Amino acid sequence: MNWTKLIRETHRWLSLAFTVAVIANIVAMITQKPGAEGGQDQSAVLVGLLALIPLIPLLFTGLYLFALPYVARWRRVNAPAVGSEQHP
Ligand code: HEM
Repeated sequence: MNWTKLIRETHRWLSLAFTVAVIANIVAMITQKPGAEGGQDQSAVLVGLLALIPLIPLLFTGLYLFALPYVARWRRVNAPAVGSEQHP
């Protein structure tokens, strides 16, 4: 398995983990006891932070995937033309 495939696969599975964390976040907000916003109940905040765990690697793997076509184009432009190789 090459790097690009591995990173794309990682991004795909992290997106699922992130989705689950977002749903858990919404559930935590809806089921939060009234009057708990004053800082007594920190569990909703912790669930919110939980969503950041998959989001951070998602950002980096996503930026890698974003850069791929531009790097490929840059390499094509800078590659030596076919037949121009120097033979000693
Ligand atoms: C955090 C910043 C993120 C960036 C910069 C980013 C960027 C990208 C890029 C550039 C691609 C490749 C698109 C292509 O090849 O045409 C991609 C694919 C994808 N992204 Fe993200 N993404 C981010 C977050 C997310 C999130 C939050 C989700 C969903 C919860 C997500 C789900 C996906 C999925 C399912 C794919 C397709 C993967 C595959 O090809 O199998 N991404 N993303």
